[in-house]
Amino acid sequence: MAPNERATTSQVVSMDREHVWHPMTQHTTLQRRDIGVMREAKGAMITDGDGREYLDAYAGLWNVNVGYGRDEIADAVSEQIRTLPYYPHTRANEPAARLAEMLAEILPGDLQYIFYSNSGSEANETAIKMARQYARQQYPGENRYKIISRYQAYHGFTYGAMSATGQVPRRRKFEPLAPGFIHVSPPYCFRCPIKLTYPECGLACVEEFEEVIQREGPDTVAAIIAEPIIGGGGIIAPPDDYFPRLREICDEYGVLLIFDEVITGFGRTGELFGANHWDVVPDIMTMAKGVTSGYLPLGVCAATPRVYDAFLGDADDGREFAQVVTYGGHPVCCAAGVANIEILMRERLWENSAKVGAYLQEQLTALDSPHVGDVRGKGLMIAVELVDDDGAPLDKPSMDKAHAAIVAAGVLVGRMSHVLPGPESIFYLSPPLIITEADADRIVGAIRQGLATVA
Ligand SMILES: Cc1ncc(COP(=O)(O)O)c(C=O)c1O
Repeated sequence: MAPNERATTSQVVSMDREHVWHPMTQHTTLQRRDIGVMREAKGAMITDGDGREYLDAYAGLWNVNVGYGRDEIADAVSEQIRTLPYYPHTRANEPAARLAEMLAEILPGDLQYIFYSNSGSEANETAIKMARQYARQQYPGENRYKIISRYQAYHGFTYGAMSATGQVPRRRKFEPLAPGFIHVSPPYCFRCPIKLTYPECGLACVEEFEEVIQREGPDTVAAIIAEPIIGGGGIIAPPDDYFPRLREICDEYGVLLIFDEVITGFGRTGELFGANHWDVVPDIMTMAKGVTSGYLPLGVCAATPRVYDAFLGDADDGREFAQVVTYGGHPVCCAAGVANIEILMRERLWENSAKVGAYLQEQLTALDSPHVGDVRGKGLMIAVELVDDDGAPLDKPSMDKAHAAIVAAGVLVGRMSHVLPGPESIFYLSPPLIITEADADRIVGAIRQGLATVA
C-alpha cells in the first residue's frame, strides 16, 4: 500500500491484528471479535470503520474537552510544524512561552512556573521529583522523600506515578514499586473505607494524613499528591471541608501539596480547575489531557514561587532542577495547547460543563431503577454506580450486558476497571464540554436501555 493511500477498515483490522499490542486488552478475544477502528470525529460524535456513529460520552479518555474537529487547532499545529517543528527546551520557543503565560494567568493562586513533559504520568513524575529535590534543598539535614497519596487514586503508568497510584489490582503485577510511597483512605463516602458517615466522621480520612505524617516523622515526608476529584478510581469528590483541612495539615508540617489535575483541569468539573471549587491553592499542580484536548500529547507541571525559589542559586551550586525531557516544551504540542486554551476561554466551556453537567446529573438521578446506587460528580465528570438488590456492586456479567446495550444505543461511556478487588460497577461520563442538553438526554436514554437489561 502506498504510504499516503487510505487503508480500508478491513485492511486496518488485519494490519492491527498482526502487529499491534493494545493496552488493557486480552488479545485472544480479538480472534473472535474486531477491536473496532475509529475513523473520524466531529464535535462530540465519532464514527467507526463500519460507518456507525456514536456520541462519545467519555471524550476519548477524559480529554477531548473542546470536542473533535477544531480547525483552529489543526491550523496552529500545521503552521508550527512548518515554522519550527522541534528544538530542545534548553532554549525558548514561542508557543511554549505563550502557553506558559496563558497558564499563569488562569491557574489558581500564584501557580506560575511551568515545566513541560509529554503526558500526565510524566507530569506527575516531574512533580514527585520536584518535591523531593525541593525538600532536600529547603530542609538541609532532613531526609524528606516520602509521598502520601490515596487508595483508589490514579496518577499514571510510569514507576513513580504508579507507586503513588492507589489502585492495587493495577499495581500488583509490577511490584515491588518505588519505595517511599504511602497510601491513606480516599473520601469515598458512598462506601466509606473507614465505615463512618459524613459529617459525624469528623473528616477521619483527612485526619489520617496527619496521623501518618506523625507516625512516619514529618522530617521524612516531602509531599501529598491528590486528584481534586478522583477520576478513574470512582469519580470521588470530597466533602467541601476536605481540601481546606488538607491544606492546613500540609502547612503545619511543611509538606508540599500536589494537585493532579490531569482529568479535572480545563473545565471538566464545571470550574476551570478542580482546585477552584474549594479555593485551595496547591504548591504544585500537574495537568495533561485537557491542556491540548488530546490533539497532541503534552504534560504540564506548574509550581508556585515558594517551590521555584528553592531551586535558585549560583550557576555552579547545583540547585537547578535536575531533569531534562527531550520533547518537553515541544513547540508543536504547545501550539496545540495555545489554540485549545483560546477556544476554552473564548467559549467559556467550563460554564457549559457546569450547566449541562447539572442537568445530566439531575436526569440520571431521576432514572427509575433499583440498580442505580449512586449518581455523583461535578460538571461533566459524572459516575453512575450500579448495585444489586442488596446494595453490593453489580456483578460483572450484568455490567457487561448493560454496557453492551449502552454502546448499541450509540453512546460510548467509560467503565471502572482494575481499581478494586472484586466486582467494579461504575460507568463514567466525561463527554466533550460542548455537549447540549439534547446530547445529555441521549446519554440518559442509552443508560436507561442499559439498565433495562439488568434483571
Ligand atoms: C488523574 C490522572 N493522572 C495521571 C494520569 C496519567 O496520564 P497519562 O495517561 O497521560 O500518562 C491519568 C490518566 O488517565 C489520570 O487520570
